[in-house]
Amino acid sequence: MNPQPDRAAWLLGGDASCSRESGANGPPLRIVLLGAPGVGKGTQAALLTATTGACQLSTGDIFRHAKHAAAGEPLSPAMHQALDAMHRGELVPDATVLALVTERIHCLRCPGGFMLDGFPRTVVQAEALDRLLAENRVPLDAVLRYELSLEELAVRIAGRRTCPHCKAVYHMQTKPPRVAGCCDHCGHPLVQREDDRPEASRVRLAVYEKSTTPLIDYYDRRHLLVHVDAHGTPEAVYRRSRTALHAHLATKR
Ligand code: AP5
Repeated sequence: MNPQPDRAAWLLGGDASCSRESGANGPPLRIVLLGAPGVGKGTQAALLTATTGACQLSTGDIFRHAKHAAAGEPLSPAMHQALDAMHRGELVPDATVLALVTERIHCLRCPGGFMLDGFPRTVVQAEALDRLLAENRVPLDAVLRYELSLEELAVRIAGRRTCPHCKAVYHMQTKPPRVAGCCDHCGHPLVQREDDRPEASRVRLAVYEKSTTPLIDYYDRRHLLVHVDAHGTPEAVYRRSRTALHAHLATKR
């Protein structure tokens, strides 16, 4: 099992570097995790990181980290606009997201591989990612597409609680912390994400349908799409992810 890398280079950008590099078990894995809000992409990324060494690169985490780290300090106008859009459940403008990802291109070149979580989210972003990867001669291995019923998505979103400090994710029913309201890892008080409120999560689901589902066809045409049923326990979904991914990789090698 690989230890979780601290992702400082991804979360902070600029000159920041990770104190512990991600480490590959075998050839590096470079994948995109695709699926509706609350489907369990972050949960699966944490499990896959532990066994593959590929680092979870979540664009949502960049925004949440910026908000938490800035507490009290002025944010750049672009980050302000991004956080406002995020709280409403809308997408952050493509230009802002692409600027952040381009600044972190070294994370896509990381020898440990990567799992992009929440990016790309539009066809414009997917095309930009293709260009970035081609320019850097980095191949994409697969796009894991997680599928879950709307009812179950609503339950997962409503019960989620997160640690703003170390980013650990809990669920009030399916993954409660040992001490109610406190993070198991760092003891910080857990919070409900602002965009998990019912009004914002309804917007997020609608935005996903409109802007992100076209990526299913986009990656299917490139023979990268791997379907994974996201019902069941995190461990069951993880086993399904591994099996489907290995079957897909075997067809390419
Ligand atoms: P982002 O942070 O990417 O959120 P998301 O895609 O909406 O995904 P979530 O984090 O909500 O869910 P998840 O699939 O990771 O589920 P999780 O594992 O936590 O984006 C947030 C916002 O940022 C966007 O709305 C947008 O504004 C902005 N943004 C980010 N990237 C952008 C981009 N590229 N372009 C434009 N805007 C962008 O699981 C959910 C819950 O269910 C947890 O409580 C978990 O414990 C539980 N759970 C997970 N799996 C299971 C299981 N198998 N059984 C039972 N419970 C489970």
